[in-house]
Amino acid sequence: MLKILLLILLIENLTANLCISKTNCKECITSIHSCSWCLQNLPESIDADINRCDYYENIIKYCDPKFIFNPQNEAKIKQDDPFKPLDSLGSAIQIKPQRIDLKLRPHQPIRFNISYQLAEDYPVDLYFLMDLSNSMDVHKNKLSKLGQLLANSMRNITKNFRLGFGSFVEKETLPFVNTAPRSMNNPCMSNDKSISHCVPPYGYIHHMTLTDNSTLFEAEVTAAKVSGNLDSPEGGLDALMQVIVCEKEIGWRPASRKLIVYSTDAGFHYAGDGKLAGIVEPNDAKCHLNSDKRYTHSLLQDYPSIGEINYKITQNNVNLIFAVVRDQAELYKNLSELIEGSFVGELDDDSSNIVKLVVDIYKTIAKKITFTTESLPEGVQIKFFSKCQNDLITETSSCDGLKIKEKVDFQVELTLNKCFSKSVSFNISAQGLGERVVVNIEPQCECDCEKELGEISGECNGRGRKVCGICECDTLYYGNKCECSNLDSQLDPSGRSTTGNISSCINPRQSGLDGQKIICNNQGRCNCGQCVCNDPSRISGKYCECDNESCDRYLSVVCAGNGRCECGICKCFDGWTKSDCSCSTNNSSCISSNGLVCNGKGQCVCGKCVCDEDSGYFGRTCEDCPTCPLPCENSRDCVQCKVFGTGKKKDCDECDLELVEVDKIENDPNYKQCQFNDLNDNCTFFFSYEIINDKKIRFTREKDCPSSFPTWAIVSIIISSVLFIGLGILIVWKILDTMQQKRECARFNEEKKKAAWETSENPLYKSATSKFVNPSYKDTKLN
Ligand SMILES: *[C@@H]1O[C@H](CO)[C@@H](O)[C@H](O)[C@H]1NC(C)=O
Ligand SMILES: *[C@@H]1O[C@H](CO)[C@@H](O)[C@H](O)[C@H]1NC(C)=O
Ligand SMILES: *[C@@H]1O[C@H](CO)[C@@H](O)[C@H](O)[C@H]1NC(C)=O
Ligand SMILES: *[C@@H]1O[C@H](CO)[C@@H](O)[C@H](O)[C@H]1NC(C)=O
Ligand SMILES: *[C@@H]1O[C@H](CO)[C@@H](O)[C@H](O)[C@H]1NC(C)=O
Ligand SMILES: *[C@@H]1O[C@H](CO)[C@@H](O)[C@H](O)[C@H]1NC(C)=O
Ligand SMILES: *[C@@H]1O[C@H](CO)[C@@H](O)[C@H](O)[C@H]1NC(C)=O
Ligand SMILES: *[C@@H]1O[C@H](CO)[C@@H](O)[C@H](O)[C@H]1NC(C)=O
Ligand SMILES: *[C@@H]1O[C@H](CO)[C@@H](O)[C@H](O)[C@H]1NC(C)=O
Ligand SMILES: *[C@@H]1O[C@H](CO)[C@@H](O)[C@H](O)[C@H]1NC(C)=O
Repeated sequence: MLKILLLILLIENLTANLCISKTNCKECITSIHSCSWCLQNLPESIDADINRCDYYENIIKYCDPKFIFNPQNEAKIKQDDPFKPLDSLGSAIQIKPQRIDLKLRPHQPIRFNISYQLAEDYPVDLYFLMDLSNSMDVHKNKLSKLGQLLANSMRNITKNFRLGFGSFVEKETLPFVNTAPRSMNNPCMSNDKSISHCVPPYGYIHHMTLTDNSTLFEAEVTAAKVSGNLDSPEGGLDALMQVIVCEKEIGWRPASRKLIVYSTDAGFHYAGDGKLAGIVEPNDAKCHLNSDKRYTHSLLQDYPSIGEINYKITQNNVNLIFAVVRDQAELYKNLSELIEGSFVGELDDDSSNIVKLVVDIYKTIAKKITFTTESLPEGVQIKFFSKCQNDLITETSSCDGLKIKEKVDFQVELTLNKCFSKSVSFNISAQGLGERVVVNIEPQCECDCEKELGEISGECNGRGRKVCGICECDTLYYGNKCECSNLDSQLDPSGRSTTGNISSCINPRQSGLDGQKIICNNQGRCNCGQCVCNDPSRISGKYCECDNESCDRYLSVVCAGNGRCECGICKCFDGWTKSDCSCSTNNSSCISSNGLVCNGKGQCVCGKCVCDEDSGYFGRTCEDCPTCPLPCENSRDCVQCKVFGTGKKKDCDECDLELVEVDKIENDPNYKQCQFNDLNDNCTFFFSYEIINDKKIRFTREKDCPSSFPTWAIVSIIISSVLFIGLGILIVWKILDTMQQKRECARFNEEKKKAAWETSENPLYKSATSKFVNPSYKDTKLN
């Protein structure tokens, strides 16, 4: 849903022509879009209808190309010396071009190329800054022996190599060092033995200016004496700041890679720690070395902050290597993340790996090029693109793994996001190298024609001058022909009233880029104090700020199709409500079977019942409630109590029922009947309640009672009737049986009388013997 909206907005922005609302040349050419301005004098009939500011392809249709003002970005390379290896003066050229002049229109990006090629034997200045507190003695001794090796190893990479040396201890005051005189003189003294070569603590001493004499370096390191202090962190940042900023004293060459090796076995103090010793003045990041090459402001200024160090390091293109013992490595890695172009290396217990460490880090530094900017003005946007060694161009400001004499190209994209009154300049510099590209930008924010003062013109009703093809009206007047007045009730020369004030065309709650005033939301013209919107059926509002698509949507249809969109607010048609008109006020779908809206147990919201939560009812019309007692049951006790004085309730006053006595409970569609047994007398009583309001009860005092016929009588009646019926049946059966027997007896006697028959004649007589002949039997005796 949101995505669709955003897309619609985007498409609208892409399609809307934002040039045409610009009313003067300057606004036109400084707009985000690449608009052009037509400054041709046109016949009055045409003039009113054209847009002076439009896209070039539109404006060319009606404006003579000679009169189209459409300044373009321009890049002019001012200095482009070829790459140069190191010369006898110790300088080389590795970046091309060196100077570039740009003419830029705001919001129109420009691209130009810069190339980098790593030169052979590029000068390297390496300054050793060493912590010389007592525990560093062993490291110092090792370094003093490795100077020659270091110089030789580095000279293997670059012939032009110089070394320098300085040391630091700590601010020479409590609580950082013990200020007791004895302790000051020999701070390394411990309980039993004292180290004789220990000197009083100091902030920073610059021992040796950068030189290519490595013998001298070894001698200087050997000669330097250790000192001591109380707390563990040292005042190294004080010294670091001096090394970075004392360009002349240290002897940094302008075109060289500058390396500082910061070697320590302890943490560091930073801005704010000075307060412990009552030193509150912040570090001013300036050089304070005296003729003895000692830091003079140790007790006057606080330690520098890490931010200050980082700022000065980038400004002076210095690479910093923290060579620290293992248990401090994590701390300095964290510090290194805050300082651009800094590295951390772990020292062995006696610094024996210092040469390898420095050479390795130098090699990674030299193989990498990173471009940064110096004093980039606010409002200028810069992007770097490069292929580096790959085939694909990506946005990056650094390339790694470069080899000597290998060229890499960078594309620089610059965009001016605001207008400057005069030209601005900044430098693109290569990190760690002294070389830079100086970029000079001349902003194109003015129209030349606006600088000429036109003459008061009849075309402008005598109230303004023709400038850049349009009337530039005197104060108090405005309009295409200066026909509108800021003064109330002015009459223009043609006699029309032109009351109106241009500020009434400017929405006070809206402002454009750079706070410029937007007239009629860029969607219309200010016509003598009233906005005339470009497309009145779509755009409306006092400041043309409304459009008919910007209302709430329901299923992506503006106002759900049930209303008109007016200035961001849906005006719903009858029968619809809610901000997106999606809610019907028709309650017909909420009517429950009893004709009530939601059974009287809820609200009809947008055609759907929202049942009262504590009522227990639910369902489409709030009629379902398996757990609810029925209204009959609800009223039973009260009716019983109030009418008959019986039942469970003792105190009838609690009952809040509206009782109406009637003679008989009759059928009534509005009432529902109830009947219950009164346990008191085993009679049934009746009442009914109104369906709409179950507190309204009709009752009758008449009860339906069972007659008081005794049970034993009923039982004996049943028993005796069972006996009588049984006896009757027996008697009838006996009579019938006797009659049957009598008849049989008579018949028998009758038969007996006829027994005069011969036995043989008696059909029932049979002879007692029978004779059978077996046909297959043969008597053997007969043969
Ligand atoms: C910048 O370099 C690319 C190739 O790397 C080239 O195509 C382009 O034309 C160059 N641009 C300019 C302004 O020289
Ligand atoms: C200088 O480089 C050569 C060969 O590249 C190597 O033999 C020699 O040991 C290197 N010298 C130092 C001091 O690293
Ligand atoms: C290097 O310094 C040492 C010690 O100071 C010195 O004796 C030697 O002459 C210097 N060498 C060069 C070439 O300056
Ligand atoms: C270094 O930074 C990490 C993460 O920010 C933190 O956990 C760790 O304690 C830090 N170490 C030191 C020694 O400050
Ligand atoms: C740019 O670099 C030059 C030296 O090449 C320097 O003089 C100038 O001050 C720098 N400009 C800015 C704005 O940093
Ligand atoms: C124009 O109107 C604004 C406020 O509506 C008022 O502040 C301003 O003074 C008016 N300008 C003139 C010239 O009347
Ligand atoms: C807004 O107005 C345009 C132009 O009259 C019309 O085509 C469009 O349907 C309208 N949109 C809505 C949601 O009313
Ligand atoms: C409510 O809606 C029903 C149908 O759903 C329709 O018959 C009835 O006319 C509507 N009533 C009103 C007041 O719009
Ligand atoms: C719809 O019901 C609501 C409450 O449920 C009521 O306020 C509103 O007046 C009813 N509308 C109609 C048209 O009956
Ligand atoms: C009501 O009937 C029951 C049993 O049917 C009987 O125990 C009870 O005594 C009768 N009550 C009255 C008041 O007759």
